[in-house]
Amino acid sequence: MRIEAVTIFPEFFDVLDISLLGKAQENKVIDFKAVNLRDYTQDKHKTVDDSPYGGGAGMLMKPEPWGLALDELLNPDGSTVLIVPSPAGELFKQSTAAELAAKEHLVFACGRYEGIDQRVFDWAKDEAEVRLLSLGDYVLNGGEVASLAMIETIARLIPGVIGNAESLIEESHSEGLLEYPSYTKPAVWRDLEVPEVLRSGNHAEIAKWRHEQSIARTKAVRPDLLD
Ligand code: 6GU
Repeated sequence: MRIEAVTIFPEFFDVLDISLLGKAQENKVIDFKAVNLRDYTQDKHKTVDDSPYGGGAGMLMKPEPWGLALDELLNPDGSTVLIVPSPAGELFKQSTAAELAAKEHLVFACGRYEGIDQRVFDWAKDEAEVRLLSLGDYVLNGGEVASLAMIETIARLIPGVIGNAESLIEESHSEGLLEYPSYTKPAVWRDLEVPEVLRSGNHAEIAKWRHEQSIARTKAVRPDLLD
């Protein structure tokens, strides 16, 4: 899969060279590039922002550099998915990640300031599949950290990125439930014991206990997931 992130802070994306995603890049499973939006400005100050029409606080990102960057990055056949991280977007869920993991090319448009001129998206709709996506109901300073979270969530679903495919199946959210609690050795630590059933060797009982724990935990902290 090819992934680009367009940003005025390409250094944010250096973390993708670490750990499993770093390995996935070395192994050519993922081809990632951070693209500096300022490389597509045409004035000597490399300006990317301007004041909003109609007034209001803060600055907006100008459309021209975005247009030139996207002209270069979007596949001409319309197959690119342009992801716009925004607290005004639809909620990014595990199912969204699974859907995006099957695509061949993703471009993340990382806004700063109060966002990007709307015409960038109105134009891009005819050139790509545009998805405004939010991580949740809170506000980050820009799209970079949100993009990183989405890239990691999507990339680990691509075959060959994670060694143990089993761990993908059992974890939180893949079945709409939160993950059960896990324990390792020692069997007793600071007077706290590992639940007896996990040491019983009875695999049917263990599976049943874990499922019950998942349901209890989901009921307690995320009842919305059970509806
Ligand atoms: Cl995707 N972007 C920004 N800037 N803030 C957010 C977010 C995204 N999701 C939650 N807050």
